[in-house]
Amino acid sequence: MSTLVVLGTQWGDEGKGKVVHYLATKSDYIVRYQGGNNAGHTLIYENKPFVLHLIPSGILFPKKICIITNGVVVDPKALKEEVDLLKKKNIPIDGRFFVSELAHVILPYHKYIDGILEDDTEKVKIGTTKKGIGPCYADKVRRVGIRIADYLDKEVFLELLEQNLKEKELMLGKVISIDKVRKEILEDYPVLSKFLKKYVADTSLLLADAMKKKKKILFESAQGTLLDLDYGTYPFVTSSNPTAGGASVGAGIGPSKIEKVLGVVKAYTTRVGEGPFPTELFDEVGSFLREKGQEYGATTGRPRRCGWFDAVLLRHSVRVSGIEHLILTKLDCLEGLEKIKICVAYKYKGKIIKEFPASRILQRDCKPVYEEMPGLDGKVRGVRSFDKLPKNAQKYIRRLEELVGAKIDLISLGRKREETIAVSKNIKWF
Ligand code: IMO
Ligand code: MG
Repeated sequence: MSTLVVLGTQWGDEGKGKVVHYLATKSDYIVRYQGGNNAGHTLIYENKPFVLHLIPSGILFPKKICIITNGVVVDPKALKEEVDLLKKKNIPIDGRFFVSELAHVILPYHKYIDGILEDDTEKVKIGTTKKGIGPCYADKVRRVGIRIADYLDKEVFLELLEQNLKEKELMLGKVISIDKVRKEILEDYPVLSKFLKKYVADTSLLLADAMKKKKKILFESAQGTLLDLDYGTYPFVTSSNPTAGGASVGAGIGPSKIEKVLGVVKAYTTRVGEGPFPTELFDEVGSFLREKGQEYGATTGRPRRCGWFDAVLLRHSVRVSGIEHLILTKLDCLEGLEKIKICVAYKYKGKIIKEFPASRILQRDCKPVYEEMPGLDGKVRGVRSFDKLPKNAQKYIRRLEELVGAKIDLISLGRKREETIAVSKNIKWF
C-alpha cells in the first residue's frame, strides 16, 4: 500500500497533528487536501510547542515532500508568515514544498466579510475562525474566485480583483472603504506573488508520479467529520469536506487510489464555535476535561466545549469515510474520573434515535442516552503496552470499538511521539 488518508472523526482537534507527525516519519509525501489556515496543529519541536496552520507538519522532517493541493484555500500572507517562520528555524523547504495552482486564494475582503457575517446579530452565528475560509469557498462555488494560477498572472488578477471589489463593495462598503481594501491587496501583491511563484506546481501530476513510483503518501485532513459541509452539523460547519472523499476531489487523485482510511478520535468529545453538541457537559466534569486536556483552540485560543464520548456520532463518521482503523487520543485525560459515560443513542420526544439525525432541530434538542463505566482505576500515562493498561481502560477501548464498528490500532497518551501504545500487532500503515 502506498496511500493513506488520516482524518478527524469529531469536531476537529482530535489530535491529528500528533498522529500525522508520528506517521510522517513513515511517509515520503504529506498532503493537505482541504480547509485553510483555520486549522491548527500543535506539535512539540525541539521540546517546545510549535503550531502550524497550513503547511503539513511533515515539513519539520528533512527530505519529506509536503503539498497543499487544490482543495485547500490559501491565504498567501499567512502562508508566507509560516514559511518565514520555518526559515527562521533553519528548516529548508525549497524543492520539497509545493502548492497547487488550482487552489483558491484568500484575500483581505474574505476576512472582512467573515468578520461582518459573524458579528451580524441578525444572522446565525457559526463561531468561525474569521480567517475568510467560508467567503473564499463561497466565491469558488459561485465561480468568481481567484485561483493561484490567476493570482500569479498580474493582468488577469487585476481584472478579477476589480470585478470582485465591485461586488464586495455592496457588503463591505458600509464598514470599510473599498479603496482601502484595494490598496491593502495591491501593496502586498508584488511580494506575495513573487513568493508564491516559487512553490506552485501541478500537484495532481506530482502525486500521480509519486504513486507510480510507489511512494508513501499521507493525506491529512484539517477539521473533522462533524464540521464537514455535507456530513457535519450544518450550518455549524466549515466550508469544505474533511471526509475521506474530500481527499479525492481535493487532491486530484481517483478514489480507487485511496488504499486506507485512518480516523483520529479523542477519548471524549470537544467542539469550538457554535452549534449542537449532544454530549456537552456544563458541570465540573466538563471543566475537568478542559483543564486536563488543555482544550483551548490552537488557532483562536478559544476555550473548547467538552463532553463525553459520543458513539452515535462516531458510527456516522466511520460510515461516511469508510474508516476501518482508528487512533484513539488523549485517553490519559480521563484519569482521575470516578465514572465514565459513553453516549450510545439519542432520545428525542420519547423516541430512541440510533443514527446521527439530519434535522438541525433534532441535533440541537436530542438528549444523550448513556452507558456508564467505572473510571480507569490506575495510571494510563507512561504505559507503553496495551496489556499493561488498567483493566478498566482496556474495557473502555474494547467497548468503543464494539460501539463504533472500527478497530483501534493505536492509542496516543501525550504530546510526545513516544507516548503511544500499539493495540494491534504488526500494524501496516502503508
Ligand atoms: P483543526 O484542524 C476545530 C470550526 C470553527 C467554526 C467552524 C467554521 O485544528 O481540527 P471556519 O473558520 O472554518 O469557517 O469555521 O469550524 N473550526 C474548527 N474547529 N478545529 C479546527 O481545525 C477547526 N477549523 C474550523 O470553530 O465552528
Ligand atoms: Mg483546531
